[in-house]
Amino acid sequence: MTILVFGSTGQLAKSLHDTLPAELDAIFVDRATCDLAEPSSVRALLESKQPELIINTAAYTQVDKAEEEPELARTVNGQSVSVMAAFASEHSTRLIHISTDFVFDGAKSEPYLPGDPTGPLGEYGESKLAGELAALNAAPEATMIIRTAWVYSEHGGNFVKTMLRLMAERDELGVVSDQIGSPTYARGLAKTIWRIVVEDRFSPGIYHWTDHGGISWHEFAVAILQEAKDQGLLDSTIPINPIPTEAYPTPASRPAYSVLDTAKLANLLGHEPTNWRDNLKLMLGRL
Ligand SMILES: NC(=O)c1ccc[n+]([C@@H]2O[C@H](COP(=O)([O-])OP(=O)(O)OC[C@H]3O[C@@H](n4cnc5c(N)ncnc54)[C@H](OP(=O)(O)O)[C@@H]3O)[C@@H](O)[C@H]2O)c1
Repeated sequence: MTILVFGSTGQLAKSLHDTLPAELDAIFVDRATCDLAEPSSVRALLESKQPELIINTAAYTQVDKAEEEPELARTVNGQSVSVMAAFASEHSTRLIHISTDFVFDGAKSEPYLPGDPTGPLGEYGESKLAGELAALNAAPEATMIIRTAWVYSEHGGNFVKTMLRLMAERDELGVVSDQIGSPTYARGLAKTIWRIVVEDRFSPGIYHWTDHGGISWHEFAVAILQEAKDQGLLDSTIPINPIPTEAYPTPASRPAYSVLDTAKLANLLGHEPTNWRDNLKLMLGRL
């Protein structure tokens, strides 16, 4: 099977590369090879490679900058995904497309189901929702959308690595305590995606996958400090103070609550997500 993975320099694609099962082969595509800001280049690449499975991890992921560049975000996250789905529908190709908890407004107080009404709060979420809708419209029988959240890994920049740096530099930190979500170790999500492929569990529709548990960024930061200290990555502890969202204003609003209900994909795979703290320990051990 020819598998084509978009977004090769990103956290999730690198984790897919790290965990590629021995029996599979995949082509990892970077921006220089195919710029998703040019949807025609997506079509040209797909026509030349003729993949049987597309895994799209590429995205315009700068949540705040998207407020200034909404058209670019829509092109990368919406129009280029539409091109992938149109190709999938024409060629008996399957598309696994990664989306986000930011398609929700955060007004719920219990985990979001895949079929819950969407309501993005910012341009990034709008553009990702546009990609979901375009894919489901163009290739409803060939598209599997997996929404995830709060992704971190040993690769690239992310909250865990930023916290480790700041915890080594600063005497104390303030971290937002009124946004609740589920941290997700990209390596765990990558293994789940490969499980879908290897076990031939592809089933069209919208799914959710994150690590298990809902916590605030503040709780996450406190856990990072404790686990990093235990593993010898930090010498000393510093106070981590809870702060409200208003004390850390950002150009884009974020959902106050975005825990995703993962049962649909867990049932499809017969496999539950790992607890967020266990995966944090694993990731720190691999750093
Ligand atoms: N990170 C999170 O917290 C989070 C949360 C929820 C959902 N997600 C979703 O999960 C998926 C994977 O996220 P991630 O954390 O792995 O993202 P990431 O580390 O930010 O990587 C994004 C990838 O997309 C590529 N890309 C961006 N613009 C492009 C363009 N115009 N043409 C071609 N490639 C382009 C980047 O290439 P360059 O290196 O060249 O920029 C990079 O390889 C995305 O769909 C994202 O929306 C992420």
